[in-house]
Parts: sequence; C-alpha cells; structure tokens
Amino acid sequence: MNILLLGSGGREHAFAHFINKSSLCTQLFIAPGNAGTATCGENIVLDLNDFDAVWDFCSTHNIKLVVPGNEDPLVAGITDFIEGKAKETNREIAVAGPSKFGAQLEGSKDFSKAFMMDAGIPTAAYKTFTAENVHEGSDFIDTLEPPFVLKADGLAAGKGVIITEDKDEAKAVLKEMILEQKFGKSSAKVVIEEFLKGIEISVFVVSDGSDYKILGSAKDYKRIGEGDTGLNTGGMGAISPVPFADATFMQKVEDRIVKPTLDALRNSGNPYKGFLFLGLMNNEGEPQVIEYNVRMGDPETEAIFPRLKTDMVSMLMGIAHGNLANIDFELDSRCAATVFVVSEGYPGSIQKGKKMIIGIETIENTQYIFHAGVKLEGMDLLTNGGRVSAVTVLEDTLELAITRAQKLASEVKFEGAIFRRDIGLDLLKYGN
Ligand code: AMP
Ligand code: GLY
Repeated sequence: MNILLLGSGGREHAFAHFINKSSLCTQLFIAPGNAGTATCGENIVLDLNDFDAVWDFCSTHNIKLVVPGNEDPLVAGITDFIEGKAKETNREIAVAGPSKFGAQLEGSKDFSKAFMMDAGIPTAAYKTFTAENVHEGSDFIDTLEPPFVLKADGLAAGKGVIITEDKDEAKAVLKEMILEQKFGKSSAKVVIEEFLKGIEISVFVVSDGSDYKILGSAKDYKRIGEGDTGLNTGGMGAISPVPFADATFMQKVEDRIVKPTLDALRNSGNPYKGFLFLGLMNNEGEPQVIEYNVRMGDPETEAIFPRLKTDMVSMLMGIAHGNLANIDFELDSRCAATVFVVSEGYPGSIQKGKKMIIGIETIENTQYIFHAGVKLEGMDLLTNGGRVSAVTVLEDTLELAITRAQKLASEVKFEGAIFRRDIGLDLLKYGN
C-alpha cells in the first residue's frame, strides 16, 4: 500500500525507516522530509496547512494511510478532513492520528486540564485566566507557593511554559502573556498551576479507539547543557526504558491515567485513535500528568521505535482501522540510548550548510543514525538546522547503550558539532 508521512524531523526519519522496512509498504512519500527520509521513500513538497492539497495528493497517488508526525496538522483537524473526504468519495484512506477533538489534549492546556479534572486523572491543581480576569490571576498567584508555573493555552512550539521562583516576575509574565500576546494567540488564555515535585518520565501509548497498547517509557533531556543546565531545546537525547519505571509504577500509569483517559474520550463520543504521549511526574512512585501530546516525541521516537519488534505498518493500520487487538506487540527488552548531535549555537542562532562526514554504517542491527536538520546537495550531506542527527544504540544494559551511543555520536562530524556527554548517566543509579 502507498503511505504518506508528514514531517521532517528525526522522529519522521525513524517512522520512515520502519515503515519502509515493512513488506506491507509499496511506496512511501514524505512531506517535506529530509535527507534521512529520502533514503526510505520519496520526499515531496506539499503545503501541510492546505488540506485540499494533501487530499489531492492522496487521491492521485493512491494513498491508503496518512501518518502525521507532528501535532500541528492534527490540532488543525487533518484527520477529520481526510477521513471526511474519503467517506464522501467512497475511498479507503485512513489517518493514524486523532480527530480534532482528541488533538485538543495537546492543542489546549485549558481543555486538557478540564478533561483531567472531569475524568479524575491525577494532575496539578490549576486555574485558567484570560483578558477578562487577568487581575484575578495575580490574586491567584498570591495564594500559591513558588515556583509558579504559567502555561500558554495553545501550541507554542514547546516554548509556552514559564516557571519562576519570583512572584513579581510571575505576575508580570502573566500580563505579558495575556495582554501583550507574548506567545501570540496561544497565550490569550493562560493556565496557572501548582508546581509538581518529582522526576519526569514519558509513557507512550497507541490506541485505536477501543483497544490500546503501551509502547513503553522514555526519558528525554531537554536542556542544552550537561547536568540539565542552560536553555530548553527540542530534546538533546533520550533513553528507553526508564529504569525507575518498574512494573508497579507502570501499572499505576495504566490504571490511573491510560485507561481513564481513553475511557473518558470514548464515553464522550470521541474515541481516540493515534499515539498518546503522556508527560508524567513520578512523585515517590505516584504518577501525575504534566501534559498530554497527541503524537510521538522527538527524540523519544528514535529511542523507542528501534525496540519495537512489531511491524510498523501493521501497527499504524491497526490504529487507523480499529484493529490493534489483533496485532502482536513485542518490545525488545534491551535498552536504547539516543544522543542528538546539534549545531553550535542551538537553541539560539546557528549556521547551516556545514558539510557532514559520517564514517560508519548509518543503520544496522543495533545502531541507527536518524537525520533531522540534514539536507542532501549533490553527493554531500549538509547541516540544515539546530538538531542535526540523532544516534541510537540498543544494548543489553543501559550503561553499554550509553557508552556506545556516545561513541556513535562522535562519528557524526561537521564543523561546530555538539552533543551532551551525560545522556542517561543520572539514571544508572536506579538499575541497569
Ligand atoms: P509542558 O510543555 O507542559 O511539558 O511543560 C514543559 C516542562 O515544564 C515540563 O517538561 C516540565 O519540566 C515543566 N513543567 C510543566 N508543568 C509543570 C508542573 N506543574 N510542575 C513542575 N514542572 C512542570
Ligand atoms: N521531546 C519532547 C517532545 O517531543 O515534545
């Protein structure tokens, strides 16, 4: 079958690699893709905000499955649009992603908080403010203990969360967000919530509307600097599984979060199909939800997918067609460590177009190089973004995976290549 994948990051190279490996895939198209996805299928130019254009491509290229990698098209309602058109024209095209309703779990913090409160899902206490009651927001901050957590309601490319110890700064940021549109329309509404203590962990789930499977746990490293210092990035590395996420913890996540989330969506007449990414805080063994994302994470995908033994296209079709119950799920028990090699200056301004030299096999059994900001010019690989390439290694122990991933990262060479040398090291104390 022909498949259309949307996106251009390391996550999408990982999707493309495993889709292309499946015997069920005839032709894979990626819009817009990158130099990595180009080795797995055909990159195409398509305006992803123009759903009519996406539909036209699907109908003229006999696409049977659309796989959105990132959240923007999902929040904008691509699933409803494509599946609506398919029904109208009596064609079989499905999307492996949630409806516009389900995508609000990521698209609106206010929606997701209200949803969790209604469904009894453990999360931080909160209140939402707009221009009408911005002064009450200041009063609310007076009732809280620092640190103060303020979140833009809408999508803000991962930048919409401000955490500060300083009460006056919190009040000033609240005003900037709402009255001066610090994050554009996304911060017209602001969620202020209680600060959660503990250690963060992400859990990934796939659901087809009635059944679900847990893909596993991962931990990402968001700060640019070693020891979790410096600016926030899209993610500098990840490991999977997380050693402190033992069976007891994962059972709590399933019983208190996964099941009630999917049940509440189904009961509201909006069964959820797609990937569900739970950003959690583990507070002494008790999980609480920090946020939902309605897609896979980047770089968590690059750590988790190499562990997945299940055929990728079978899984994606299972999600899209309500058929997950019949899919055998198997996860490699080995550990994955992923390290992102980034351009000097990231997450600030960077220079693109640096020639890359990779002196080893890009993808083989236990080692993978997934490209993100990389483009092909003639025969040359050139850097084309802040996050350049993610390397992943699978090994019997976390420690070995980390050591080999470091070595692999050092094989991705270009002027100004930077990577963190401490990905996963803080977790070795929990077991290996
Ligand atoms: P989010 O975009 O909601 O994931 O928030 C970005 C980051 O801010 C999270 O990964 C956490 O590190 C932190 N964060 C968000 N909300 C809270 C909270 N209520 N308590 C503690 N840390 C938080
Ligand atoms: N790595 C975090 C994210 O994909 O949102």
